[in-house]
Amino acid sequence: MNVRAANVRAMNGGIRNGGIRFDGVTVAYDATVVLDDFDLTVEPGEVMALLGPSGSGKTTALRAVAGFVRPRTGRVLIGGQDVTALPPHRRGIGMVVQQYALFPHMRVEANVAFGLKARKVPRGEIAGRVAEALEMTGMDGFAERYPRELSGGQQQRVAIARALAVRPGVLLLDEPLSALDARLRAGMLTELARLHRELPGLSMLYVTHDQSEALTLADRIAVMDRARLRDCGTPQSLYRAPGSAFTASFVGSANLLAARWCGEDAVELDGGVRIRVRGSGGGEGEATLCIRPHLIGLGEPPGPSGPPSPDVPDMNVLHGAVTGLQWRGASHRVTVSLPPSGAELTAEVRELSSPPALGEKVSVHFAAADAVVLPPGGTP
Ligand SMILES: Nc1ncnc2c1ncn2[C@@H]1O[C@H](COP(=O)(O)OP(=O)(O)O)[C@@H](O)[C@H]1O
Ligand SMILES: [Mg+2]
Repeated sequence: MNVRAANVRAMNGGIRNGGIRFDGVTVAYDATVVLDDFDLTVEPGEVMALLGPSGSGKTTALRAVAGFVRPRTGRVLIGGQDVTALPPHRRGIGMVVQQYALFPHMRVEANVAFGLKARKVPRGEIAGRVAEALEMTGMDGFAERYPRELSGGQQQRVAIARALAVRPGVLLLDEPLSALDARLRAGMLTELARLHRELPGLSMLYVTHDQSEALTLADRIAVMDRARLRDCGTPQSLYRAPGSAFTASFVGSANLLAARWCGEDAVELDGGVRIRVRGSGGGEGEATLCIRPHLIGLGEPPGPSGPPSPDVPDMNVLHGAVTGLQWRGASHRVTVSLPPSGAELTAEVRELSSPPALGEKVSVHFAAADAVVLPPGGTP
């Protein structure tokens, strides 16, 4: 067995199955509730992303698990044990924050050993555990350096090694990549995904406002908005069937149009444009129509070849004028204004060899199955 495999095995052996449960957790500062009756379960070994805009309460939720904020009501459980009254160092967690937070006057080695010493790990074990954690994050060979002698990405690897050294059942990460540039971010995401595979018992709670991080890394995403949990599901389910306009716009990009039900499988935009939608048994009154840009085609749909069949989705074809055009390398984003209301739809299509001009009249089409109706609200 090579060294790396041995380290991975040792660390796995030390990880007790974690799992986190928020049970009706409310946190308030004075009169302001910043986490409101929050319920969420992270399974052992699961990566859960907490995704939401700045100020929505993500860090507060994480700090409630870590033990740095005390809930006003509710309980936090780790590995099935109620830890609400336990101090941070007795919760079996590791934590990584945005700004590395390494001790500048300590070498990498001492930084990674810090939590082990604080937990009174026997002296003879510490060197091995430090080496194991540094190896896990690809930082073996840097043990003697000071933080100032490392790049931002390397410092963040050391911070992750420090968190892993205590062999936590739960790893808490608060925007761990947001201080890194785009290329380093992509590399670190791959590294975190590898850690997730190598340490299958480790639960991770990963706070981010960046949907691409959540989509890449998370088994499930919890969407937060103004102190509340809005939606929770796999990236695929939230993308294909978001529960609200808020989630639709936060997980992937979305066209969101104000609409009104007008039948079992159709809605109407302002001004009477009728749109066939994904069969859902219908509804009544106001609604929000959601269509993903890449599911919209430009021009007339390809003609039916053969007899009509129930398997062929109903196409919506709408006519309008181009109000926006963006080249994105492999694709074009074409925004079309629909008369009479002027509602806009953006289509993301493969790069066009001869893109339309602004003001040009064009058609757009999309399948009824790709037109999802959400509760009203959330449109621009
Ligand atoms: N120590 C504090 N005292 C008072 N208000 C705070 C404190 N920490 C956070 N808040 C407020 O709580 C809300 C949620 O903050 P936070 O959990 O940091 O959000 P996020 O991580 O999603 O950006 C914000 O409105 C923030 O201003
Ligand atoms: Mg935060």
